[in-house]
Amino acid sequence: MRAGWLWLVGLSFALGAAAQPRISPDVQALRFAGERLFMTPLDAGSGRVSCASCHSAERAFTDGKQVSEGIQGQLGTRNAPSLLNLRATPDLFWDGRRQQLAELMLDPLLNPVEHGFKTPEDVVVAVRHQPELADAVAKAFGVRSQRLDARHIAAALSAFVGSLESSDAAVDRHVTSRPPIAGQPALSPSAVRGMDLFTGRAQCAACHTVTGPKPLFTDNQFHAVGTGTERWQGRLAALTQQVVAARQAGQPLDHAILNNADLAALGRFAVTLNPADIGKFRTPSLRNVAITAPYMHDGSVATLEAAVDQEIYYRGQSNGRPLILTPDEKSDLIAFLRELTDDAFLVGSGMPARADSSFGAVPTAATRNEVRPPRRTAPP
Ligand code: HEC
Ligand code: HEC
Repeated sequence: MRAGWLWLVGLSFALGAAAQPRISPDVQALRFAGERLFMTPLDAGSGRVSCASCHSAERAFTDGKQVSEGIQGQLGTRNAPSLLNLRATPDLFWDGRRQQLAELMLDPLLNPVEHGFKTPEDVVVAVRHQPELADAVAKAFGVRSQRLDARHIAAALSAFVGSLESSDAAVDRHVTSRPPIAGQPALSPSAVRGMDLFTGRAQCAACHTVTGPKPLFTDNQFHAVGTGTERWQGRLAALTQQVVAARQAGQPLDHAILNNADLAALGRFAVTLNPADIGKFRTPSLRNVAITAPYMHDGSVATLEAAVDQEIYYRGQSNGRPLILTPDEKSDLIAFLRELTDDAFLVGSGMPARADSSFGAVPTAATRNEVRPPRRTAPP
């Protein structure tokens, strides 16, 4: 039985049929191992960069920086997005260059400005240097840690990341008309007016979709809303040629994009090479948006107020007539966005953690890197 299982996993690896092995003996152990991998510093430099250094739970898995900082303080070109609710996201990264979470996992590990490993084997060696970590991953697959390979590591990380869900903000209690939890009111009157504007006259929900019982506030489509256009306007021919040349040279797209801010500003075009996609980015989910500053793919907008102003301005531009909101209406809109925060993820922020959150009470420095099961998508 066991041998049969191993053989099947081995086969699916050998065939490369799926980046993530189809059979897992223990999904819970896999997520647990993935969480440890995520939290543990693991890089090709001085060993300080973990996934969590750019995707920190208390900021809804973002880093609070304009663009992310990887090994040896190197800067990338993009703002770290939240990792919540990605399980069903069809196209990943700001430009949608990946479709599967498990496929994506080695990208940050192998990017020269993130974890900086040269090859997948180097990642495996670094994991083996931390025997407890290697054991946790190996155990989830029922293999010896000497037999670990990069796909086990990717599968564990993606099991963890795919399990992160945030769907318990005030707005969820509002749309499902559930009674408020003690101390957690449903939307304030100002936020209710803001939601009406958001879904109505301000047209935000045309892209930041609000449908169904757990709205994601994104259509997962690509749109140009004007951010970063100054980087390519007037130099489009030269830059698009550079992208085409990088693609033809077989350079990993991920390296080109996170190393060159001008190419990064071309957005979806770098993936599709379709001129209609120049400057388009995936609509970000607005869940927890109050705690994920700065904003936009390049982190160029510092505050939520400024991001909302910019979006209102571009609504006007694309409609051909300005969208005018009174100061009160604008503050209603912002009140609504502030109520999209799910406190269960505010660990370590000094905010009260809810008793039903399995992230648990605010962790101390000592327990911070200890493995705790986060709130899962499905109840155990
Ligand atoms: C140096 C900072 C940094 C590190 C370290 C890092 N990331 Fe990221 N991550 C980013 C940035 C920036 C992006 C956006 C890149 C883009 O869209 O081009 C991103 C994007 C992602 C996405 C796609 C999210 C989406 O909305 O499509 C996932 C998933 C992800 N990272 C997971 C990880 C995992 C797992 C690790 C550890 C193996 C990791 N990241 C390490 C900065 C980092
Ligand atoms: C045409 C589609 C579209 C509409 C309509 C739209 N947005 Fe956006 N929004 C986007 C895209 C795409 C981005 C990311 C742009 C980028 O990074 O360059 C974005 C980014 C944002 C951000 C920053 C989020 C982050 O995590 O960086 C906020 C806040 C925001 N929008 C709010 C609004 C509000 C409020 C409205 C209504 C006034 C609105 N949007 C209307 C597509 C849209």
